Amino acid sequence: MTDTIFKPGLEGVIAGETTVAAVEQSSLAYRGYNISDLAQNTTFEEVAHLLLYNELPTSAQLAEFQTVLAQLRPLPAEVIQMIRLIPTEVPMMDVLRSAVSFAGHFDPVKGDSPDDLRRRAVWLMAVCAGVVSARYRLLSKKEPVDPKPGLSHAAQILYQALGEVPDETSVRLLDLTLTLYAEHEYNASTFACRIVASTMSDLVSGIVTGIGTLKGPLHGGANEAAMAMLKQFDSAEEASEWIQNAFEKKQKVMGFGHRVYKNGDHRAHILEDELRNLAEQKGQQKWMAIYDAIKEPMVTQKKIFPNVDYPCGLTYYLLGLPIDMYTPLFVCSRVTGWSAHFIEQAENNRLIRPLSRYVGSSAREVVPVDKR
Ligand code: CMC
Repeated sequence: MTDTIFKPGLEGVIAGETTVAAVEQSSLAYRGYNISDLAQNTTFEEVAHLLLYNELPTSAQLAEFQTVLAQLRPLPAEVIQMIRLIPTEVPMMDVLRSAVSFAGHFDPVKGDSPDDLRRRAVWLMAVCAGVVSARYRLLSKKEPVDPKPGLSHAAQILYQALGEVPDETSVRLLDLTLTLYAEHEYNASTFACRIVASTMSDLVSGIVTGIGTLKGPLHGGANEAAMAMLKQFDSAEEASEWIQNAFEKKQKVMGFGHRVYKNGDHRAHILEDELRNLAEQKGQQKWMAIYDAIKEPMVTQKKIFPNVDYPCGLTYYLLGLPIDMYTPLFVCSRVTGWSAHFIEQAENNRLIRPLSRYVGSSAREVVPVDKR
């Protein structure tokens, strides 16, 4: 055991190799493409194709990808029925976790070759989007609506949730967040997914594990937690007072900090610019003032920068989406990255099984139950 290493939280440990994404202090790239380039020049469907099929699609490949996605989009009636049975107060992330697991029993894709797994991943993209929209709809006391042919993935999510074709700004911004959220190498949920793949389990189990792991507020749950924090304030002054108090109490501020990025998250920069335009367009600068009142002291006094979840929470809020839907929307995107990693792990597998350092009781003998 002399050559073993121990790092709490596996911080700084390289736990495997990947070709899917590179997260570095100064850059983020999906399969070699810089995130800013992708955010400016591609749609989420192109990014999903890149992650699952290793390359950006040609026009013909994109059309084929969209056709397959459209064919796989309708949710099995049983899944909608199951969502109806879940009490209304259950968080949408829990509904999504259960519904994806249940949908797995109606998997239309047979086989387990890498191509079957890619197709199953496209189906899971459709399932996650369908479940989120259907749940939103049912909570609004309205019936789920069928998919509308010809809409992008982002537009489809909004259309099936709201029941009307969404405006261009909402679609563009949701599409952008889906691109920014799609992949981030060995983050906690992706690593959890890879562990599932490494036991030669199935993709649906991997995605369900990913959802359960993403839910926590130290991970994807931070977009909801960040907005819940901002919503407490009626003014920038209130937010300024609160943050100084939070510093005194050494409180974690959601939507800030990152295990890898210590000088800022590229995704947050990209989204924040768009968020500022959105707030201005909607006459909602009050929210930007509150946003900045938390951000400014975090950056200048603590040197802790916003991560993507900070601007994302407010972006979704200004688009009129309920807070409970934010982390589920993250899932609608990250299901692509999880699947790409699952397939990569399955194609070149070695069981992931680390060691632990035992710090419990020293050796002792059992005393019979009547003598304890
Ligand atoms: N608010 C206040 N202090 C913080 C924060 C924060 N958000 N993040 C880090 N710190 C402090 C932390 O208390 C510690 O201080 P000290 O050295 O005095 O004990 C120092 O910075 C180092 O932090 P750490 O906890 O050792 O850093 P980590 O690499 O373990 O944590 C993190 C990374 C993301 C868990 C953490 O920054 C955090 O809890 N952030 C809030 C939750 C959040 O926004 N999560 C989203 C992560 S990124 C996108 C995603 O996955 O969804």
